[in-house]
Amino acid sequence: MAARQSSRALRSSVKQLASAPVVQRRTFVSALSAARAGFAVAPKAAVSSPFQQTRGIKTIDFAGTKETVYERDDWPREKLLEYFKDDTLALIGYGSQGHGQGLNLRDNGLNVIVGVRKNGASWKEAEQDGWIPGKNLFDIDEAISKGTIIMNLLSDAAQSETWPAIKPQLVKGKTLYFSHGFSPVFKDLTKVDVPKDIDVILCAPKGSGRTVRTLFREGRGINSSVAVYQDVTGKAEEKVVALGVAVGSGYLYKTTFEKEVWSDLYGERGCLMGGIHGMFLAQYEVLRERGHSPSEAFNETVEEATQSLYPLIGANGMDYMYAACSTTARRGAIDWSKRFKDILKPVFNDLYDSVKDGSETARSLEYNSRPDYRELYNKEMAEIADLEIWRAGKAVRSLRPENQK
Ligand SMILES: NC(=O)c1ccc[n+]([C@@H]2O[C@H](COP(=O)([O-])OP(=O)(O)OC[C@H]3O[C@@H](n4cnc5c(N)ncnc54)[C@H](OP(=O)(O)O)[C@@H]3O)[C@@H](O)[C@H]2O)c1
Repeated sequence: MAARQSSRALRSSVKQLASAPVVQRRTFVSALSAARAGFAVAPKAAVSSPFQQTRGIKTIDFAGTKETVYERDDWPREKLLEYFKDDTLALIGYGSQGHGQGLNLRDNGLNVIVGVRKNGASWKEAEQDGWIPGKNLFDIDEAISKGTIIMNLLSDAAQSETWPAIKPQLVKGKTLYFSHGFSPVFKDLTKVDVPKDIDVILCAPKGSGRTVRTLFREGRGINSSVAVYQDVTGKAEEKVVALGVAVGSGYLYKTTFEKEVWSDLYGERGCLMGGIHGMFLAQYEVLRERGHSPSEAFNETVEEATQSLYPLIGANGMDYMYAACSTTARRGAIDWSKRFKDILKPVFNDLYDSVKDGSETARSLEYNSRPDYRELYNKEMAEIADLEIWRAGKAVRSLRPENQK
C-alpha cells in the first residue's frame, strides 16, 4: 500500500516506535477511575462464540457472521518444512514486504531465494541482510527460473511494468503468489493476465513489512488475508495457508482477491490514512483559526489521539473508550459521532465506487509510472512535512521522554 520510498523510511521509524514505551500523557481519559466508579469497562472477548474446528479450519462467529479463519498453530515448523521440502520460493522484490516475508521464510528454514534487479537499492539492502549473490540472491529472471513458487512482491506499479517479461516464465507447475489483489483484479488496467494453467494465490499481511518481521521476531504473527484466484492443482488453498504461516502470519482470514483489494484501497484512503489525515487537518486548522496555539492544537488533535486514546480503542474497543472517559467527554463524543457518520458516509460511498470501478487504480498506475514520479513524490512529501501541524508535531514529539537525551 505504501510507496517503496516511504516504506523504507517507515522501517526506521516503526522500529523506533516498537521499542519506545507508550507514554501516558495527561488526558481526559482515566480508565482506572472509571473502573473504580463502576463503569462496565472490562474488555470483552474478541469473538462471541468458541472455535469450531474441522481439520485445521476454524469457523469463528464475528458479531453474528461466521467466517473461516486459519491459525498458525496448525502449521508448526516441522510441518512447513515437510510441506515445502521440494519447493524453491522465489521472492521477487525486496521492498517492505520482500524484506519482512523473506527474512521470516529464511528463519523458518525454507528454501527461499530473492530476485531483484542488479545494482538497485533493493539488491544492496538484500546483501546487507545476508542474502548472498549467486547462492540465494539473483536477478529477477534467474530467480524466477529457479523458483517453483514465485512470490511477486514488486511494487504494484512495477508488477504491471515488468509483466510482459515475467509472464512467459510462469510455466505450468509453478505457483504465482501475490500480497495484494491489485494486479490480477484490475487486469484491464495493469495488463497482468495470469496464465491459465498455474495456481494463483494471495497472502496479504494487514500491516507493513516491518511489522511482519517485528511480530515474527517476538514470536507472534500478523493477521493476514488469504485468497485463491486460480486453483489448478486442487491444493491452492492449503498451499496459501501454509505459505501465509511461513511468511509470519498468526491468523489468516479467508477472502477473495477482489474483496482484498477493494477493502485495502478503500481503507488506506479512508480511516487508515487519507480520511484521518483530512480530519486531523480540519480539526487543527479550526483550532488555529480560533486562536489556539500550535502546541495546543496539535496535542488536542494528534498527540492525545495517538498516544493515549487510539491505543486504548485498539486494545479494548470504542465502548470501553466511552466508558473510560469523563461523562462530559462521553456525552459530546457520542452525540457528535452520529453527525460525523452521517456527513462522512456519502464520502465513503463515493470512495468505494471510485475503488471498485478502477478509478483509483488508474490514477495510481498513471501517477506512479510517470518519469518524474520521484520528483513529484518528493515535492508532495516535502509539502506535507512543511505543514504547520506536522512541524508542530515534531516539536511536541521531541519533548517525549524517550526522545530526551
Ligand atoms: N508495504 C506494505 O505495507 C504492504 C502491505 C501489504 C501488502 N503489500 C503488497 O506487497 C507488494 C509489495 O509491496 P512493497 O510495499 O513491499 O513494495 P515496495 O516496498 O514498493 O518494493 C518495491 C520493490 O519493487 C522493485 N521495483 C520497483 N520498480 C521496479 C522495476 N521497474 N523493475 C524491477 N523491480 C522494481 C524495487 O526494487 P529496486 O530497489 O531495485 O527499485 C523493490 O524491490 C505489493 O503488491 C503491495 O501492495 C504491501
